[in-house]
Amino acid sequence: MRNGSVGIVGGGRVGTALGQALQGAGYQVVGVSARSAQARDRCRRRLPGVPVLTPHEVAARSSLTLLSVPDDAIASVCGELAAAGALAPGRHVMHASGACGLAVLREATAVGATPLAVHPAMTFPGGDSDAEHVAGIAFAVTAPPEARDRAEGLVRDLGGVPVWIAEADRTLYHAALVLGANNLVTLTAAAMQALGAAGVPDPGFILGPLVRTTLENALRLGDDALTGPVRRGDTATIGAHVSTLRERVPALVPGYLQFARVTAERALAANLGQAASVERVVAMLTEALSATPASASSDPRVRAQLVEDPVGHDDLR
Ligand SMILES: NC(=O)c1ccc[n+]([C@@H]2O[C@H](COP(=O)([O-])OP(=O)(O)OC[C@H]3O[C@@H](n4cnc5c(N)ncnc54)[C@H](OP(=O)(O)O)[C@@H]3O)[C@@H](O)[C@H]2O)c1
Repeated sequence: MRNGSVGIVGGGRVGTALGQALQGAGYQVVGVSARSAQARDRCRRRLPGVPVLTPHEVAARSSLTLLSVPDDAIASVCGELAAAGALAPGRHVMHASGACGLAVLREATAVGATPLAVHPAMTFPGGDSDAEHVAGIAFAVTAPPEARDRAEGLVRDLGGVPVWIAEADRTLYHAALVLGANNLVTLTAAAMQALGAAGVPDPGFILGPLVRTTLENALRLGDDALTGPVRRGDTATIGAHVSTLRERVPALVPGYLQFARVTAERALAANLGQAASVERVVAMLTEALSATPASASSDPRVRAQLVEDPVGHDDLR
């Protein structure tokens, strides 16, 4: 397989980053597909010399075809390639989705190709260093028994560590990653917005060490890593937070309340802090939530603040 030809259908962020990593591991990338001008430009930049072809041409000349298209498009792209005769016995067809398993590749399987689901547990936002983050990470792998060695070999060639995930568990696996990683972006961006509104010139300088240490502690200790007013049962502090957020950055109120209540409920379940104090926090947050629109987007002024004033410098009062 290592010397086999790899084709990439979908020259987006992951397709081109994995293409670069595969080239670095000694694989030959024989073609990549791109429709938009942005994708074509990305392919030329990241995979210079690799021909930009149609999906059919890419698959027809590859022994391994990577379908790095959005999750919702994998099954239809796979079906089109299978129907057009671009996939055949002896070929491998792989996608990089975390949430999907082998079912979305069933039309490739039906024409005798071997399906692989290989999800890099990493974020690829499209920056120049994306491909550098492939080595050393976990890849969630689902593959039929006869393809296990090949799937593991591919991941190891990329410097990754294969972690087997059952077909039935892939969606839950991916939901977990979204909770832990995508939501972290939202939380951090919201915190930087509030610091900006407080006049802090460089929010990242304050948040960086705090967030990194908290993350390390949480990875090691789970809920036990919790510190702060919820664990201490400081209802007055939490009440003051909510009042000042309502006044200064109202867009952040629903999220603050909802996250704080989840935090308080987990603290109770994990026996953190004084139960009676934490229960008072839960009651207070529940009451505040019942008096707060569930979403900032229901208020046009607040929605405008989220979109147009990401660092919160404007005074909306
Ligand atoms: N980004 C991440 O952090 C990340 C991490 C791990 C796994 N993944 C997985 O990687 C896969 C790709 O995600 P991505 O973030 O790389 O998406 P992306 O940057 O939006 O790239 C998707 C590519 O697919 C192409 N495409 C869309 N629909 C198509 C179709 N019907 N036929 C042919 N090409 C089509 C797009 O082409 P045009 O631009 O030309 O329209 C684009 O180049 C997904 O399964 C995702 O779950 C993503």
